[in-house]
Amino acid sequence: MKVLILGVNGFIGHHLTKRILAETDWSVYGMDLSDDRLGDSLQNPRFHFIEGDIAINREWIEYHIKKCDCVLPLVAIATPKLYVEDPISVYNLDFEMNLNVVKQCVKYHKRVVFPSTSEVYGACPDPEFTEDFSPLVVGPIQKERWIYSCCKQLLDRVIYAYGTRGHLEFTLFRPFNWVGPRLDSLNTAKEGSSRVVTQFIAELLMKRPISLVDGGSQKRCFTYVEDGIAALLAILRNRDDLCKNQIINIGNPDNECSVRELADMLKRLFMAHPDHRADREYSEIVEVPAQTYYGQGYQDITARKPSIEKARTLLGWSPQVGLEDSLRMTLYSFLEENEPSLRG
Ligand code: UGA
Repeated sequence: MKVLILGVNGFIGHHLTKRILAETDWSVYGMDLSDDRLGDSLQNPRFHFIEGDIAINREWIEYHIKKCDCVLPLVAIATPKLYVEDPISVYNLDFEMNLNVVKQCVKYHKRVVFPSTSEVYGACPDPEFTEDFSPLVVGPIQKERWIYSCCKQLLDRVIYAYGTRGHLEFTLFRPFNWVGPRLDSLNTAKEGSSRVVTQFIAELLMKRPISLVDGGSQKRCFTYVEDGIAALLAILRNRDDLCKNQIINIGNPDNECSVRELADMLKRLFMAHPDHRADREYSEIVEVPAQTYYGQGYQDITARKPSIEKARTLLGWSPQVGLEDSLRMTLYSFLEENEPSLRG
């Protein structure tokens, strides 16, 4: 099989590429703005990488959609700070650019495996979010945070409509707070615009306070990236066509914790690390109002827990890595790879 991955150097893209090359005989064609996370994959003869911007290299993309069997358009802005700071870029990239790719998949009859998001459920009141029954709940227009959720939701609906009318074969997958090595760059965390796990790791390294937005009682279910990738690989294998035109949550409901618990656990793991056991000081954990941290356009999601019954049934999959191990492996890999660049 030939797989096209746009955004191949991103968090999901580079982990997926590595696993595809290790566990299958498939070829991967990938485009991204840079290649710094791709490591050994770059040397693999079944991996074909081109450095480029999906907004510019449209001919290359169209040619490769025609050539490949399955397309994963993984390019997107996925950090809440940017949803409120630059909602138009979120719309242009996450919606318009990806819509073009989806339309070409329709044109050339190619299977698309599309990253929807846990964010489409928004402030859904269900204790566990189910793909085919839970309502998708967002806030008012002034709360610009929801533009990401809305862009993704509309794409989900467009893809679904093409699929149910027989014009497109698709699987939509919804990652729930995947974490792991190379989640976000610590450079974005320096500016305070990273997802929470990377942000907290960066604060610990830089001895800056860890901010609990609105007290940190909001909850997430953190999913170790290798668990997520195993599910994604099963979706790509698509045994007995079971994933055809399905929407599938990929998360770890057992790893639910509040942001405050997350901060405590990461700080404890950091303080126990051999290189940091004897540090003279450690980050304080402080509370910050959401309006101060993110600005007026932000609204939070108080709890977000996936039902993974569909993933269990369709993929024969269940997550294996617990919360503490997920955070330890993520923290240790960041310390190993990034610490020198953050000193000073
Ligand atoms: C994320 C992002 O939207 C996407 O990456 C993705 O689609 C989705 O969720 C997912 O990964 O499932 P969210 O979980 O709100 O959304 O993003 P984070 O930035 O990781 O924040 C998690 C929680 O930590 C939020 O309640 C936020 O307010 C809080 N937070 C964040 C802090 O308390 N302090 C910080 O310094 C940063």
